[in-house]
Amino acid sequence: GAVGKDGYRHYMEKELHEHPVVIGQTLQRMIDPVTRQVVLPTLSFDLATLPRAVITACGSAFYAGLIGRYWLEAEARLPVDIDVASELRYRNPPLTEGGLGLLISQSGETADTLAALRGLRSAGQHVVSVLNVEASTMGRESDAVLGMVAGPEISVASTKAFTAQLAVLASLTIAIAQARGVLSPARQQHLTASLLDLPSRAAEVFVQGDAIRAMAAIIAEARDVLYLGRGICFPVALEGALKLKEISYIHAEAYAAGEMKHGPISLIDRTVPIVVIAPSNILFDKTLSNLQEARARGGRILVFTDAQGAARLKDLAEAIVVLPTVDAFVAPILYTIPVQILAYEVALLKGTDVDQPRNLAKSVTVE
Ligand code: G6P
Repeated sequence: GAVGKDGYRHYMEKELHEHPVVIGQTLQRMIDPVTRQVVLPTLSFDLATLPRAVITACGSAFYAGLIGRYWLEAEARLPVDIDVASELRYRNPPLTEGGLGLLISQSGETADTLAALRGLRSAGQHVVSVLNVEASTMGRESDAVLGMVAGPEISVASTKAFTAQLAVLASLTIAIAQARGVLSPARQQHLTASLLDLPSRAAEVFVQGDAIRAMAAIIAEARDVLYLGRGICFPVALEGALKLKEISYIHAEAYAAGEMKHGPISLIDRTVPIVVIAPSNILFDKTLSNLQEARARGGRILVFTDAQGAARLKDLAEAIVVLPTVDAFVAPILYTIPVQILAYEVALLKGTDVDQPRNLAKSVTVE
């Protein structure tokens, strides 16, 4: 094809390195560089009066949607329902006409997401799609398309499209919050600045290669891995577990950290490493006490955190990847990058076919 690997071993490795650029390009499209206001395409409806939103997608795009839900609820105060497309379609949920139907898809062709789009449209929702391939079936059938600027994604396991989706959803959140009159100018500037700062912070993640590989060496020996996160970082744990399963064939499960004591704690021993997504935010102390419980049961704890978090976790954790300190709003975007790199490094150790994992397809056009 026209797209090469540019000297990288796999498309996935190349695409992981494209995260900073893709985030930057997508934000450039969404945010006016002079006014620093979010710019959306002309819409046929009013963002200010949306009664609620329904988000749907499949795979990694669904986890991007879960992060979008946190943003839309917390910053835009918009009620959000979300489900995977293959379930939403058959739930037949009661929907108020004139709501926002928000679809997320790299390809714009995933059969379940497309069917959900058609269902939302016939239920009177304004259909907005976050797409990488805008010239796609979903693109043609949407009321509006918000394009990510990720470029072609060849690796079957999605990487850069995920952070590009998040850049779009974060920008959309700011626009909806402003339209609803719930975002102060100061907060708007703060959120926008934290987004525009991200490409540089994302580039800094790659200096942590050795620390990520040290973690990968522990995980490559395991048969089962538990991923934990809280709040807006729980979907990052879900994405990490999915990526590990997809390309290394190691069983991984993601849990909301606070829910661990209601089940997976029974699995914990030295053979089940625990990967924790724990930026030092308002939920950090809660996560820390969950980790102490896990450690007391012999669990091996591997953490993604920032300098402040690392100082508090150094006696508890066996491996720590220290990430740049960023605002809580954008932390899920930044933390996704090393979590995806970890899955890649484990797959390298396992010697799997990274770009073409068994049984998976880039675009799933059957239901
Ligand atoms: C497949 C891919 C995933 C992707 C999902 C949704 O399962 O392997 O990486 O997240 O489809 O694809 P879409 O094109 O709709 O984002």
